[in-house]
Amino acid sequence: MRTQVVIIGSGPAGLLLGQLLHRAGIDTIILEQKPKDYVLGRIRAGVLEQGTVALVEEAGAGVRMRHEGLVHDGTEIAFGGVRHRIDFQRLTGKSVLIYGQTEVTRDLMDVREASAAPTVYEALDVSIHDVQTENPKVRWCADGKKFEIGCDYIVGCDGFHGVSRQTIPENELRTYERIYPFGWLGILVEKPPVSDELIYVNHERGFALCSMRSMTRSRYYLQCSLDEHSEDWTDDKFWEELTRRLDPEAVKKLQTGPSIEKSIAPLRSFVAEPMRFGRLFLAGDAAHIVPPTGAKGLNLAASDVGYLSRALIERYKTNSDLGLDAYSQRALARIWKAERFSWQMTNLLHLVPGASGFDQKVQGAELEYLFKSTAAQTALAENYVGLPY
Ligand code: APR
Ligand code: PHB
Repeated sequence: MRTQVVIIGSGPAGLLLGQLLHRAGIDTIILEQKPKDYVLGRIRAGVLEQGTVALVEEAGAGVRMRHEGLVHDGTEIAFGGVRHRIDFQRLTGKSVLIYGQTEVTRDLMDVREASAAPTVYEALDVSIHDVQTENPKVRWCADGKKFEIGCDYIVGCDGFHGVSRQTIPENELRTYERIYPFGWLGILVEKPPVSDELIYVNHERGFALCSMRSMTRSRYYLQCSLDEHSEDWTDDKFWEELTRRLDPEAVKKLQTGPSIEKSIAPLRSFVAEPMRFGRLFLAGDAAHIVPPTGAKGLNLAASDVGYLSRALIERYKTNSDLGLDAYSQRALARIWKAERFSWQMTNLLHLVPGASGFDQKVQGAELEYLFKSTAAQTALAENYVGLPY
């Protein structure tokens, strides 16, 4: 078998790339190790930059997103029991769209199925070969049979634990990592959100975040330690602790209820360089991870795909390798800015175990400076709504 581009992983990065290339007349196949429902069952974040929204629309999967997504012109940061609004519209002229990553994934899967472009779910033991030749190959097993496909390029959109980055020899790859000494305990609840905009909370008991998926479904997070398990947290204990960390006005408006999902996620910053090895390219979580505090995970995957899809289309349309040769450097330039922003937001808003009194005072001073400085608010807003590609 042969195709032009093999994509490994049917998460948002792989699906978005698949559709952008398909619409440009480039043949692709997506190989996904999990069943479709498993991929759709993962609860992830849901803050979309305008650049991500534009790419999803360009892929032909924007109708429901536009219809159901919530436009947010700002966000709030609570400190010392007081909320401070960061006005994205006034400071940058831009807004973000609140629309769950799971919904983006579902919409992209639907348009891929409608376009009859091939996806193999439950493709097991995917392996990558000959990427330093002009005929790279991918092998996998499905239904107990072995398959091999030849192609021009392979794109690893298989996330942090995928096979693609592991295929790159260690001496060809540089990795950078920061693991944070805390996690996020998140719940999903069929209740109206506590506020029309997100609330990021810096509290002496730890960070909290009030987010939403719609005006009837809310998502809340609490900073927790890494040795805790979600089973240790009853819904009542969760609501009790959240109430302790929220400002009085939010407490009055908070609508609690039974959680429909509850999980703990560790916080990590990670970057692998370069994002190319021969005819193998990496995109999304396969090459980088950000802590969720800056809402950059999905948006970085999208910008990678934005750069790579343009470069591949340029290659097939004009026979030029310029875009492909510049891909890794271009994507990494934007990735490191988002890594910095996500690291900064994480340090600004969390209770760091073992932090000295001096550290805590400096954190408080940085927040007070932010609330009084238009320049600091503009910097935060520019990064939050998304830096230009
Ligand atoms: N073979 C085939 N598929 C694989 C393999 C493999 N060896 N390893 C992983 N996969 C699949 C996973 O099952 C998953 O469906 O690759 C997909 C990777 O998807 P994501 O982890 O969602 O990564 P990505 O598409 O880059 O999306 C990044 O996801 O985690 C969030 O915050 C992150 O929002 C960001 C987004
Ligand atoms: C979410 O809605 O899940 C969410 C929103 C903003 C973040 C992280 C997660 O920074």
